[in-house]
Amino acid sequence: MGSFSVLPLKLEGKVVLITGGASGISATTARLFLKHGAKVVIADMQDELGHSVFKELDPQFTTFVHCDVSKETDVENAVNHAISMYGKLDIMYNNAGIARESQYNILDNTQADFEQVIRVNLVGAFLGTKYAARVMIPARKGSIINTASVCSIMGGLAPPAYTSSKHVVVRLMKNAAVELKIFGICVNCVSPYLVLTPMAKDYLKQYEERALNLYSNLKGEVLKPEGVVEVALFLGSDKSKYVSGHNLVIEGGFSIVNSGFCMYPQ
Ligand SMILES: NC(=O)c1ccc[n+]([C@@H]2O[C@H](COP(=O)([O-])OP(=O)(O)OC[C@H]3O[C@@H](n4cnc5c(N)ncnc54)[C@H](O)[C@@H]3O)[C@@H](O)[C@H]2O)c1
Repeated sequence: MGSFSVLPLKLEGKVVLITGGASGISATTARLFLKHGAKVVIADMQDELGHSVFKELDPQFTTFVHCDVSKETDVENAVNHAISMYGKLDIMYNNAGIARESQYNILDNTQADFEQVIRVNLVGAFLGTKYAARVMIPARKGSIINTASVCSIMGGLAPPAYTSSKHVVVRLMKNAAVELKIFGICVNCVSPYLVLTPMAKDYLKQYEERALNLYSNLKGEVLKPEGVVEVALFLGSDKSKYVSGHNLVIEGGFSIVNSGFCMYPQ
């Protein structure tokens, strides 16, 4: 039998730009990517929080740039910042997202609420993909990762704007994966189930009673930011060179069957 080795995922020398990097999943991403040898650019609109995350990491290999992902010039500037700091961009992690700005019930949403979520979750990922591609195409390599959600494959788990944005971000990823593959650039989505980040906690406040049952799909397991970042690490590493166009859903089986119907003992 041939031997093969399972090497740790290494990001040595790679440069990653993480949008929404001041909080939640992205802040954990910054820490873990750094631990695996990457140079990290944190791009967020929360300057104070972003600077505090940046300061507690290794300042030699981390930098913070102000960026509102819904603004084209900000995203272009964030990519330019990565290039001027480190000379290249290997991984673009479009992770900034919002949910609470829109309402659950369709009648309670204004057009402005709906558009605001689309601007950040979808237009932000579009701009991140566009400006990352602009510098990755000449380099003939790169990995673009968009954070979608379990809401990208289901309905009714979140407000209509959020569900819509996450469904379409997957289609955007598929299109970009086809277009950019000829340049050696991989484009994928990571789609987590519920992770108790500031966003989720804030949002779930209104649904506390129902939220208690939310961890019932994979007994004894709770999805933490690290569980999401491990998947992103794989997608950012050279281990996943042949993986493109996928929506990697991290949901412990939540979407496979309606547990009310399931015939196995619960
Ligand atoms: N937490 C969950 O349960 C969960 C589940 C599935 C998907 N997600 C997705 O994961 C991603 C990260 O969410 P999180 O839970 O870590 O939330 P979070 O609120 O903790 O972090 C989101 C970050 O995005 C930043 N941000 C918001 N709008 C921005 C903008 N216009 N420009 C730049 N940055 C902006 C915020 O400042 C914050 O730092 C989001 O895309 C979210 O939709 C979260």
